[in-house]
Amino acid sequence: MKITYCNNIFSLSFGESSYVLSISSNGKIVFEYFGQRLTDKDIITSLIRDYPCPEGSSLLEEENDGSGPQNMALEYSLPFRGDFHEPSLILEKENSVIFDFRYDSYEIKNNAPIPGLPSPKGEGQELVIKCLDHAQKCSLYLHYIIFEDSDVLGKYLEIHNEDGSLLIKKASSSQLCLSGSHYSLLSLHGAWAGEANLSETPLKTGVVSLSSNNGMSSPFCNPFFMIEEEGCGRNYGAAYGFNLLFSGNHEESLEVDAFGSLRIKQGISSLCFNKELKENESFFTPLAIMCRSEKGRNGVSQQMHHYVNSKIIDPRFSKTERPIVYNNWEATMFSFNEDKIHSLMKKAKQLGIETFVLDDGWFGLRNDDTKGLGDWEVNPKKLPHGLKGLSNYAKKLGLKFGIWMEPEMVNKDSDLYRSHPDWIIGENRHKAMVGRHQFVLDLRKPEVQDFIFESVHKTLLAGDISFLKWDCNRSHSDIPDGYSSFDYDYYVGLYSVLTRIKTAHPEVLFENCASGGGRHDLGMLSFFPQSWVSDDTDPVQRNVTQSGLALGYPLSTLSNHVSAKTSNQLLRLTSLEAKFDCAAFGVLGYELDLNDLSVFEEKTIKAQINFYKEHRSLFQRGTYFELASYQKEGYSSLQVSRGEESIVSHLRFLQSPSPIKYRLKALELSPENLYSYKVRKEMISLKKAGHLINMISPIHLKEDGFLVNLLSQRKGLESEKEEGIVSGAAFLSYGVPLAQEWSGVGLNERVRILGDFSGRLYLIKKYSSK
Ligand code: DGJ
Repeated sequence: MKITYCNNIFSLSFGESSYVLSISSNGKIVFEYFGQRLTDKDIITSLIRDYPCPEGSSLLEEENDGSGPQNMALEYSLPFRGDFHEPSLILEKENSVIFDFRYDSYEIKNNAPIPGLPSPKGEGQELVIKCLDHAQKCSLYLHYIIFEDSDVLGKYLEIHNEDGSLLIKKASSSQLCLSGSHYSLLSLHGAWAGEANLSETPLKTGVVSLSSNNGMSSPFCNPFFMIEEEGCGRNYGAAYGFNLLFSGNHEESLEVDAFGSLRIKQGISSLCFNKELKENESFFTPLAIMCRSEKGRNGVSQQMHHYVNSKIIDPRFSKTERPIVYNNWEATMFSFNEDKIHSLMKKAKQLGIETFVLDDGWFGLRNDDTKGLGDWEVNPKKLPHGLKGLSNYAKKLGLKFGIWMEPEMVNKDSDLYRSHPDWIIGENRHKAMVGRHQFVLDLRKPEVQDFIFESVHKTLLAGDISFLKWDCNRSHSDIPDGYSSFDYDYYVGLYSVLTRIKTAHPEVLFENCASGGGRHDLGMLSFFPQSWVSDDTDPVQRNVTQSGLALGYPLSTLSNHVSAKTSNQLLRLTSLEAKFDCAAFGVLGYELDLNDLSVFEEKTIKAQINFYKEHRSLFQRGTYFELASYQKEGYSSLQVSRGEESIVSHLRFLQSPSPIKYRLKALELSPENLYSYKVRKEMISLKKAGHLINMISPIHLKEDGFLVNLLSQRKGLESEKEEGIVSGAAFLSYGVPLAQEWSGVGLNERVRILGDFSGRLYLIKKYSSK
């Protein structure tokens, strides 16, 4: 990594990339280049745009004969000084809204943490450019953080007030001005149980904005997004990735002007935002990150995955294999007792599961979601031997033990609320809104932070607990204090509590959850190595959500569970195998009632767990490629590769009577080497064949009759056998034909029996080198 300064030009080189800035003749910081890493031989001045005369109707300073700010690729922009794009900063001092920062000095140093906010881990370098507004007596520091082993650039702003009272009304972390192409936006939108659906928007003249304003990074719009240049594909062409290390309200804006230039802004939301800085106070924005790849969206995903794994995730967990978890939520909800949990634990152990996580309902009077939240004492009626008893029981079986908490919230019907009604977020003119019968604790208050720390600390010490699922089940509302920095301060409070808890319990694996994926963001992932992706475990929607998130987040952050065949969320019936083929791409777990499994299903799950354990490092830490998606190609195909092995999924959406003759393709193989490939053996329910079961049965069977039901509890059909050896060249180009699919005929062991919403996994291994 290298940061240089020469002749008013800053050049930052990191990974395979370079980013160049210049100081204009009137002291503005101007973006010049973001692309492949420059060499020492590059004549860097050739990259600097010349402004020989003002363009069009631009406004200039009297003494300046160059271009006006309207046409410059500025790294920050303020209103009312000739730049008529959306500003990235809005400030006010003593009734003046005119600010004009000019270059003052720079510093190159080792990277330092951002006060109060999540920061990238690892040893990197930081460029700090100081700009001053002498008239307003305040300064703007532009921070740039880079690492040698990463193509991701981090940017944030520090605003410092020297005198009087400065109001910050808007403070984007980054502004980036691209030009010279047509651009498309790829962004992730959704709602509870249907997060991270990919939306592709061609950017035309005007402003497209993304935001969340519910007090979380939100399921509605994830802070991760991509930009593709014209002609970009999955694996080729220029694409850019962006994200923010923050978990609260955020906003991104993409503005294309008449010159076709694109201004991208990322940062905290400016809705009702207002921060006052007194004399000698500073404000720090969260870190915005960005990267650029010539290898299309898969190239961007891989750069982002590497950054998240190496700079965001706690290094204690970034390289270790995550356990296969059983979580009792969908099986029992609130209705369980010690015996029930013991029996689930025994079954979990027999199936090969490694950690048992006890979800909601173990504390206070929490027998449904109306009561008890905040009262973090075990319910002795349900668990007479407490968490200690349960964790000991798990230990004896050879299982690790984990626990669920929702520390930021409180039910009105709880001892906590009765003792501290003033701890909830609300203002005094209206009754605070409720969500799931609960209220949000005001994490800005030191006493609330202490209470949360003590509750979690005590719970983690109450038994041998190695896993904590931290939930958060409602949006924020009724924020106090009018226009303020409430949301920012809430998260500074939360990050401080999380730092204390992580310091006291460094070995505990934390799982992030906000009604599923309501806060799947880099702020939370700085503390939680993995995140419960969605409350939706239906394999079709889940695949869409997981593939959406995987564009920007590594698979090791995606916690996925196989749940009961009929989806709680969609009432769609799919097989356990279809659920596994989806859930395996990430950190696998199970969540269905294990005591309800038939012998056939137990066999199925045992085989899944064995397969996953054999290939866990591929699924959790392999290099990831999206090869096809339901939305684009009508089927989904994902690939993970590591060393000599790859796994490729092929998941069908709807069965057709004339199915497409798909071929198995894979990326990143060496064309000259030979590779063996083999389909993972799946167990198909006898009931899948319907009354056609009579094609292979010696006696007549009724489709839903007693005998079929009885038989299908114990036996199933095996999926087709398919294996072979071909060169990497074949996988990389035309592909390998997949077994013929069922098309109304052919119930035999060479035919692929899929039906709607199911698929296969193929294991590809190096067989011999050239
Ligand atoms: C919402 C989570 O997403 C679920 O997995 C479960 O933990 C429930 N909360 C418990 O209340």
